[in-house]
Formats: sequence, C-alpha cells, structure tokens
Amino acid sequence: MAISRTAPRPPEQPIDSIEAFLARQDKQDLLRFITCGSVDDGKSTLIGRLLWDAQQVFEDQIAALRADSIRFGTQGDDMDFALLVDGLSAEREQGITIDVAYRFFMSARRRFIVADTPGHEQYTRNMATGASTADLAVLLVDARKGLLSQTRRHACIVSLMGLKQVVLAINKMDLTGYRQDVYRNIQTSFDSFAKPLGFSSVTAIPMSALHGENVTRRSTLMPWYTGPTLIGCLETAQPFRETNDRLVFPVQWVNRPDANFRGLCGTVAEGELKCGDTIRVVASGQQAKVAQIVTMNASVNAATRSNPVTVCLDREIDVSRGDVLAFPDSPLETTDQFEATIVWMSNEPGLNGRSYEIKLATQWGIASLTAIKYRLDIDTLAKQAARSMALNDIAVCNLAINRPLVFDAYERSRTLGSFILVDRQSHATVAAGMIRHSLRRAQNIHRQDLTITRSRREHLNGHRARVIWFTGLSGSGKSTLANALECALHDRGLRTYILDGDNIRQGLNKDLGFTDADRVENIRRIAEVARLMMDAGLIVLTAFISPFRREREMARELIGHENFLEVYVNTPLEICEKRDPKGLYRKARDGKIPNMTGLNSAYETPEHPDCIADGANESLQDVVDTLLTRVLAEAPAKNGAAH
Ligand code: ADX
Repeated sequence: MAISRTAPRPPEQPIDSIEAFLARQDKQDLLRFITCGSVDDGKSTLIGRLLWDAQQVFEDQIAALRADSIRFGTQGDDMDFALLVDGLSAEREQGITIDVAYRFFMSARRRFIVADTPGHEQYTRNMATGASTADLAVLLVDARKGLLSQTRRHACIVSLMGLKQVVLAINKMDLTGYRQDVYRNIQTSFDSFAKPLGFSSVTAIPMSALHGENVTRRSTLMPWYTGPTLIGCLETAQPFRETNDRLVFPVQWVNRPDANFRGLCGTVAEGELKCGDTIRVVASGQQAKVAQIVTMNASVNAATRSNPVTVCLDREIDVSRGDVLAFPDSPLETTDQFEATIVWMSNEPGLNGRSYEIKLATQWGIASLTAIKYRLDIDTLAKQAARSMALNDIAVCNLAINRPLVFDAYERSRTLGSFILVDRQSHATVAAGMIRHSLRRAQNIHRQDLTITRSRREHLNGHRARVIWFTGLSGSGKSTLANALECALHDRGLRTYILDGDNIRQGLNKDLGFTDADRVENIRRIAEVARLMMDAGLIVLTAFISPFRREREMARELIGHENFLEVYVNTPLEICEKRDPKGLYRKARDGKIPNMTGLNSAYETPEHPDCIADGANESLQDVVDTLLTRVLAEAPAKNGAAH
C-alpha cells in the first residue's frame, strides 16, 4: 500500500545536518551503503521509502512532495517517493538521477548513510566514488527485465571497490504478480555471474519499493520468501573495518599562522592518535612526539579515524603536505611501481605509455601507464588484451611513479590503496584506481652511481649536451632540417646524433604502428633514448611527428627544460600533401592508410615551441643558420675547444 497524500507527518524531528548526524557516533554504529541500478529500476523510490519509514523527512519536504506528486507524480493519488529523492529539477524532468547524493537516516538499531548513485553508463565515476566509502551495496534489478549489462557492470565495480556484501534488490515484484519463479531466475543467474567476484554475502530480496513490500515491513504477498527485509539486512550487515593497530595520518597541509604555531592538518585515516604518542614521518624517517591535538573548537587528547584535526609536535622536524605520519613500530611501505585496477572515467582514452598526475591520499606525483595488462569484459569477466582504455573500461595496469609514494594494497587500506589520475593538460580526473600490489622490481632495482658523469663527458667533448626536438607533420621537412643542422654542428666539431622516425621504426620501435597508443609509446621510448644519448654527452636531434602535446611535454620534463629545444616545423598540410615524398598522403586519400597524421589522425600544434621553423617559405639555409646560432649560444664550448 502506498502512503496517501493525507498521511500524517511522522512524529520524530529529523536530523538536519550531516554533522549533527555524525556527532551521534557514540550512540549507534554507522553503516554506509550505496544503491545502484538502471534508470527505471525504482532506486529513488526505494530510498524515498527508506527515508519516509525512518521518519527522516522534513515538514517543508513533505509539502513540496505533496505539490510535486501532483505536478510530476506518476503514482496517481499517492505520494511519489522518487520525487523526494530526485532533488534536482533537471533530473526530475528527465526522469533520471545525475549525481551522487548522500542521505542519512536512522532505524531503531543503526544509523545509515546512503550514497545514491546514478544508473546510466557515463556515470560510472560517480558509482566508483560512492562505492569507495561504502560497506555494502544495494543493486537494484527490475523484476520484469532481469539482469542487465548495467547490473553486471555495477556488481563488477562494487567488487573492485572492495565491497564484500551485496543486496540484490529485486524490485517491482508487484508488476510480476509477486511470482517466486521470477525471483528465483534472477537470483540464480546473479549468483552464477557473481561467483568470481568474491562477495562474502549476496542477499536477494524480492520487493516492491513503491508499495513498501519487504523494504522495512515484511510482505504478506510473498509468503514463499523467508529471508530478511531490506532494513533487516542493513541492520545486521558488517561495517568495513580497517586494521586499527597502526596509524595512517596523511598530512593535508602545514598550518603556520605565526612563528609560534606550527600544526599538521589532516584527517586520521586509520588508527588512533593520542597526545604523547611518538610518530614517524614515513618518507624521511624523522620522529617526534605529539604535543597537542586541536580540533575546530578545542584541544583533545586523542583523534580517531575520520576525525579532521591539527597535530602539533614537540619538536621541529621536516614535514610537508603529502607526508604521511605512522607509528615507528608499525611502519608503512613506499613504492614507485605497482599493479592496479583502473576504472577509466574520461571520454579521452587512457593510453599505454602516457603519463598523468597521480593523487594518492594527500600525495601527488607523476605516474606513467607502463603497461595495460588487460581490460575486463564486464559481461563475461573475460580478460582482453588492450593498449588503451575507453570511458567506463575497467583494466589492470602497471604504473610507474616519478617518486616513491606511501601505499598499501586496496584490500588492506582504502586510503593508501586508492588513487586518482588527473590529466596534465585539462586537469580533469580521468581515472580512479585501486592498488593490487607493489611490483617487486621497484624494490630490487637501485640506481647505480657512475664515476664518469655527463658533465665530465661534456667537458671532454668541449660543449654542452642537449636535445633538439623537431615536431611537425609528415613531409614538413623535419628530417631534412635535422640532417642539415647536424652537418653544420658536425662541421664545427660538435658531437651529435639524429634519432629519426622512419629509421627508429625499423629497429627499436619495429613493434609499433600508428594508433594513438602506439605513437605515445613511440615518443616515450624516444624521449628515454634521447635522454640517455644526452647523458652520453651528445647533441641529440630527434625528428618525429610527435603529434601529441602531452608526450612532447613529457619529453621536455624527462630531459629537463634547460636541455630541451622544441622546434615546430610549421608547414601547412596542403604543402606537405603536395610534396608527399613517400606517397603516403595519396595512399591515405585512397583509404589505404587509416590514421594518417593531419588527415584522420590528430596533430596538436605546439602552443609554446622554443622555435618555429617556417617549412614552406623560408630557405633551408636560413632556418639552419637561425637554429645554429641558437644552439651554439645555448650549448657553448665548455673548454673553448670546439668552435
Ligand atoms: S609519430 O607520430 O609516432 O611521431 P613517427 O615520426 O615515428 O610518427 O613516424 C612518422 C613517419 O612514418 C612518417 O614520416 C611517415 O613516413 C611514416 N608513416 C607511415 N604511416 C603513417 C601514418 N599513418 N601517419 C603518419 N606517418 C606515417
């Protein structure tokens, strides 16, 4: 039975803020769960029902709900609970939910925070966000439709996010005549699909959120079902517990309002921190004692998980944003390479070899995707080979970071085991990741110090080493220019070497083609080789299309800004195509080359090149002269021997 519009307002005063709600922590324990389902599965109705039955609905909300039920409602004379939850008018009118919304309510036995996550595909990122803090997932299924690809994707993400407890809410049973065989079929097919996902409990509950059957009240219409109601299940589920015998305190920022006060601000992620405890900064190994712990309003003696605090130490040690504090006798590990599961959340593909900013707890670094080991087919859970990741893909990858980060496996620590990747140009979050394990090679490989340094080689050669990076379309004149410049440098006694696309692709990079992912990897390898050759004391000239800004930037950073000269050979496509020295443009126009740069594969024009060479109008000699002057000025002889 739906609650009619004239239903009296529930008696208890609802809690009006999340802070007030969390402050009741001492009274009852807390379960966080997420709801996920397809657009029409009735998720909002279910949450609305839970809130209503838990009396967490405000007077004004009820008034609005009454009005809205008349305006938008799909439930005749009854209140439409979905309208209570779908707060945004845009989504109301489209009939979909478009962001993660956190709501809270209480039953007689427990407090709950529910993350309401949207059902349609492009919002996987919201789901991953919601799941990352949850103890349990409620997966909604429309009894009439059975399991959809969407349900499988959600189950998969939920499992990857480390959730072990799942409620399969088989909703809209009223529309199937409350039939047991419908329930059974869905339950059995979910069980067999989900077996490899490693859930510790899956409870399938037949229900009608609209009529309140088996939500908080046991249904009399499905006497064949003897399991728990939804609320019964939520009241008895186990909250996720992290190990509590260690401390994880990622430092968010160092607060130094004046010379007398220096506080480390952050949120205790694991364990309990007390005044007098000795802590250790993981990266540096320095130790100190906790002198004071301060919260918004007062000094306290201790802080536990989820408490945001400022910590003052008894002595000055080096600590900065991104450092992690631990107890000396329960040390945390660091690594600069690990294997992780990644949920790709951007429209721009994730490419093998590309680097991204990584944020792990409060630590930042640069991570490159060194290998996409496989992507997961979420319908069959089969592993598929892949070189790139598209929106919503779930893949297992290796990552290499430019510095060691404090970490743990996600199954042991959600804080130290999860990270996000951020695009270095657009600053958009492109992926969420869960660390599986550190790669042993990270611990077993140590940089060897060599006696003969680059500086000594430069001294012997009589000039500085550097990299001159030519970029431009095929046929723009990169190779010709690099060759002429090398002759001029060589004639003046400078030691040089050319790395040229067409040549390197016949050897070192023979395995690479012209997809975006292969071009990224091509440039990554070239940047590494160029750096080695520069280290060997040479002036290295590279002639690669290098079509993507991100990889040119990566090369610049790897090689060092002060050593890197980016030369954009600016020759319009029409002229390159007219020249067509290798007949490639013609072939591409005939449909024989699927991804020719400039035609059907992107070339991202450099925004701030160090030099622009006009490859169409300027004479070769003029361009070479300009570059030569620049290079000689910037790579002067070290001992005056060369020129
Ligand atoms: S890059 O894009 O990965 O930097 P690279 O400079 O190594 O390319 O190789 C480009 C050369 O490969 C071109 O000069 C051309 O001779 C040849 N080539 C063959 N197929 C293509 C293609 N689809 N797009 C561009 N160049 C191609």
